[in-house]
Amino acid sequence: MTEIRIVSCAALFALVLCLCAGGHLSAQELRLAAPAEMADSGFLKHILPRFKLKHRITVTPVGPEDTADMALIPGGADGARVFAAIDGPEYRLVLLGGAETAKFRDWLLSAPGKSAVESFPRGGPPAYTADLPEIVQEAVVDLTGDVVLGSKLALQHCGRCHVVDKRNRMGGIGSTPSFGAMRARPHWVDLFTKYWSENPHPSFTEVIGVTEPFGPGHESHVAPVQLTLDEIDAIVAFVGTLKPKNLGRPVQSN
Ligand code: HEC
Repeated sequence: MTEIRIVSCAALFALVLCLCAGGHLSAQELRLAAPAEMADSGFLKHILPRFKLKHRITVTPVGPEDTADMALIPGGADGARVFAAIDGPEYRLVLLGGAETAKFRDWLLSAPGKSAVESFPRGGPPAYTADLPEIVQEAVVDLTGDVVLGSKLALQHCGRCHVVDKRNRMGGIGSTPSFGAMRARPHWVDLFTKYWSENPHPSFTEVIGVTEPFGPGHESHVAPVQLTLDEIDAIVAFVGTLKPKNLGRPVQSN
């Protein structure tokens, strides 16, 4: 008798265990860490039920410092770019755990997700946009040139026409682009690596072993500049240390 009771007790216990575990799995709840203002404004309340309707997954907003399965982070570098506040930061969604989180990310990037984001607040001008500008990827370059040498050569050979940095801030020739402005161009490495083949440089620049030396029959009307390919690498490496000027706007002259 006692034995039967123990067995049925164990069975009941196992059943409860199963129910609990199963219940937990089917609850489908994800915690989303987000800036407080995003919760306060009603934005999350606007979009999250729309996601739930589609995927039957409840997303509960928590504070930015709380434990979460995923996080919306303003201005970050990691995660998927999902939307931006109008005249505000861009937000990225960082997934911190669980396969279900990818569903939320994919939904945010889908047409229904984007329209949920852009339809807030109801009836008013949208507070967020999901139409993000493309990022112009700066080539990841491994600049091996000698920066100190490059800095010296740039001032010496380029500084008479280009503003190189604060050392010749007042120098340069009026319309000639400054190094800072050229550094802001996405393909600056290319520009500087091949600068000697672009006008006006060929008329006074000799790259040793590459271009024809100046001399009788091939004269330069200004003091010619002689550089080696290593010295050009050094200049490119130095330019890599400069702060890009007016990023995002058209290149300006000095
Ligand atoms: C005698 C004057 C002069 C000197 C010296 C000079 N540059 Fe230039 N550079 C110019 C002018 C002018 C332009 C603008 C040309 C244009 O916009 O068509 C220019 C443009 C450039 C460009 C942009 C090219 C492009 O395709 O947009 C780079 C890069 C450049 N210079 C690098 C250098 C470097 C590096 C040095 C030194 C090693 C140097 N320059 C020396 C006058 C000079």
